[in-house]
Amino acid sequence: MSDTPLLDAWRRAAGARRRPMQVPGHKMRYASGGAGWAADLVGDTVRDDVPLQGGVDDNAYSHRYLERAEALWARAIGADHSRFLVGGSSQGNITALATVGDQDVPIAIDRTSHRSTQAGLVLIGARPVWIYPRLHPEFHLPVGVEPSALQQVAAGVNGFFATSPSYVGTLSDVHALASVSQARGEPLIIDQAWGAHLDFLPGGGAIRAGADFVVTSVHKALLGYSQTATVSMRDGQIPRSTLDRWVDLTTTTSPSGTLMATIDATRAAMERDGAARLALLIEVVAEARRRLARVPGLVVLDDANAGCRVDPMKLTLILPGTGADGSVLGEALWQMGHGPESADHDTLVLTVTVADEPEWVLEFADVMAALIESHRDEPRPPAPLDVWRVEPDVVLTPREAFLRERRRIPMREAIGQVSAEQFCPYPPGVPLLAPGERVTRESIDAIRAASRVCRVAYCSDPSLETILVVDA
Ligand SMILES: Cc1ncc(COP(=O)(O)O)c(C=O)c1O
Repeated sequence: MSDTPLLDAWRRAAGARRRPMQVPGHKMRYASGGAGWAADLVGDTVRDDVPLQGGVDDNAYSHRYLERAEALWARAIGADHSRFLVGGSSQGNITALATVGDQDVPIAIDRTSHRSTQAGLVLIGARPVWIYPRLHPEFHLPVGVEPSALQQVAAGVNGFFATSPSYVGTLSDVHALASVSQARGEPLIIDQAWGAHLDFLPGGGAIRAGADFVVTSVHKALLGYSQTATVSMRDGQIPRSTLDRWVDLTTTTSPSGTLMATIDATRAAMERDGAARLALLIEVVAEARRRLARVPGLVVLDDANAGCRVDPMKLTLILPGTGADGSVLGEALWQMGHGPESADHDTLVLTVTVADEPEWVLEFADVMAALIESHRDEPRPPAPLDVWRVEPDVVLTPREAFLRERRRIPMREAIGQVSAEQFCPYPPGVPLLAPGERVTRESIDAIRAASRVCRVAYCSDPSLETILVVDA
């Protein structure tokens, strides 16, 4: 068997110069510099686009290139079954939750999870039982879901869902969480969207630590095309066919062979010499952390000060002790071409991947240190983002709230009503308020505070003056 079945087939198809009498409409005319009508506008943007069906594979998928590539991914990360996704980890979260959950049955979910978990809940009608990660006493950031959070959930849930790494790079002890879920016979899903590289470190990622399902974005921490992700599972209580059913329900019938081939290529690269590349960059990130930690007042999140393991490829900077404003620094970084993963008043999150050159990461650390110095001000108390500590009053399931009649009212009159929509600071994409949750004075204040430092997304009135509430 070829080591990269999908990549090899993609290369053959991209170089074949076919003249298809089927989609894609651009007919792959612009590949390898080919010209054609509207090439000046369209050519560069679709140059590498080869569909999976009738492109990389034939119309009947006779060669099963995708299936073979998915099996190789599963083997590489220690899973029994994997599916490639072109709808990001958002699709992964939806399909994993739908595979495990059921209408009206409780399912335990980390409330600091990404907004896409709510879409999964809307689809299946499950009743969320929110669990919460531990918050750091000083930095007020999530530092992992504790096994006790799972133990405290009443019996009878369909499963547990936790996010690790968190957006700021903190890791839960998945091994310990899996011990609890296994003892209870309730499956564990880990949203490892930010940690695809963890699967290629010695010891592996969430699946090898005992999770039943794992979702990873190949486009975030590794080398996949934007939108690429995987959902993987271990054989157990739930058959593979259930996951397949949900993946097939939620995906396009015209997947991009190009996007999917980048997952195959990424897996092959990581299996070839990814471990050495990661080891090198982890050492470089450690050195970058040491350099940045010399900046007076700056906290650089690491295993010692977080009190939990931290993704060794992440640079999370906690700024109040420097007086510098993270939003201003974030804007300056963007202008310099070094856009940060996220920037709020207190915190900068910077993502390093295997694509970064070691010298550049160190150079960046020095640039970052100088930038903080040039924006230094009086140290201030922390003003953490509220998304990490939302404890909602759930009145309706997300599905009930999503499907009910709704009406628009002024935000200032909404206290006590039930929200019909999401208010989601992006990044990190964790809802401050979600469908089915009671609107409170605190939630309105938190939404307004978030709007001063970032985009509040997925609500229907961007001015935040009005809100859609569920009709009583
Ligand atoms: C924790 C987490 N899970 C899932 C997602 C969704 O990932 P994608 O953008 O690949 O759909 C994100 C996106 O930022 C995320 O932060």
